[in-house]
Amino acid sequence: MSNVLFPFSDEHKMIRDTARDFAREQIAPVAAEFDESGEFPHQTIKKMGEMGFMGIEVPEAYGGAGMDTLAYVLALEEVSKVDASHGVVMSVNNSLYCSGILKFGSEDQKMKFLPPVASGKSIGAYSLTEPMSGSDAGTMKSRAVLDGDGYILNGRKSWVTSGPVADYVVVFMMTQPGQKQKGITAFLVEKDTPGFSSGKKEHKLGIRASATSELLFEDCRIPAANRLGAEGDGFKIAMTVLDNGRIGIAAQALGIAGAAYEAALAYAREREAFGQKIGQFQGIGFKLADMKTRIEASRLLTYNAALAKERAKTGNERFTTEAAMAKLFASETAMFVAHAAVQVHGGMGYSKELPVERYFRDAKITEIYEGTSEIQRLVISRNELGLK
Ligand code: CAA
Repeated sequence: MSNVLFPFSDEHKMIRDTARDFAREQIAPVAAEFDESGEFPHQTIKKMGEMGFMGIEVPEAYGGAGMDTLAYVLALEEVSKVDASHGVVMSVNNSLYCSGILKFGSEDQKMKFLPPVASGKSIGAYSLTEPMSGSDAGTMKSRAVLDGDGYILNGRKSWVTSGPVADYVVVFMMTQPGQKQKGITAFLVEKDTPGFSSGKKEHKLGIRASATSELLFEDCRIPAANRLGAEGDGFKIAMTVLDNGRIGIAAQALGIAGAAYEAALAYAREREAFGQKIGQFQGIGFKLADMKTRIEASRLLTYNAALAKERAKTGNERFTTEAAMAKLFASETAMFVAHAAVQVHGGMGYSKELPVERYFRDAKITEIYEGTSEIQRLVISRNELGLK
């Protein structure tokens, strides 16, 4: 844990310590097993719900824990430090599913769609990407057509975290083709709706215990009341929700980096070569110094983004740049630190006997999902240049 002086309340310390203890006691013993099998860890995810980790910022009236963004970030870092797969399920549930409904949902939608997911009894997902529409999210082809008192959805979505296990999904579809981003609308879909199914499951390099798949919509009829926001508002909703999500991924990356750093530090203190502890060699010591420094900088950027988001809750201020900077720097730090940790461990870093190789595999995705590093640089530079 960092020595950064930060204005943590007793509540912040409590959730951080609770998440740390939970992760060490309940997740650590099963993390390697689920990584190896690629199975979804239903039991521990359910327990995380019981602990209140699946809807941390959702008010208690809607089934959540009623805490702030800093509390969310602290808990997510601790979970991800032990296992990034559990971390991403928690992140998507909290920031990609709940945050959008909380901000854009009607009272009826909040009452119906938040409690099961925020309480952790059900799992939520967010579905934007399509096979031919990734970073260029505005080019999606999936189509929703108004038909009486409902919408008929058709299309194929891809790379949906928790896709195969989700009970509820926020999905983005084109309602006015030809209008590009302004033709996109957001919808809430329940798992058992006829015409809705999960497709191909992805076999991934890392975060293997999280379930990622396609989602298929074949003449899937949903009530018009399941439209989130107005027709044409979908792209802005998707982007606003991703601003939230990117803070979650920054916290996840911080957790992975912290785990890799602590493993490398411990190994550098113990392992001897050429008659001394390897940490005494400058080649290792300087690596540790860079790892520590980048983690501390990531932490400050992530906390700063969390505080910016907290301020935005009472107004319409955006925290897009803060979230993008935190996600960009923390994810590249996770990759840098995990890469260095494998190197410090030498052969042992490459072995499945230790979790270091898992940290390395898990770190990579943080530079890709919820906007690649290139997209974060685009977002930051456009905002700085006043182009958007
Ligand atoms: N908040 C609110 N509004 C926003 C916004 C934000 N963060 N970003 C853009 N907008 C608004 C703009 O103001 C603009 O509105 P006006 O037309 O009224 O001016 C409108 O949205 C269109 O914006 P752009 O012209 O900037 O849109 P663009 O097509 O150029 O795209 C982009 C910008 C940054 C490249 C965006 O498409 C993007 O972020 N792409 C990456 C998508 C992404 O992160 N995908 C990951 C999906 S989730 C996932 O990874 C799976 C998972 O399950 C975890």
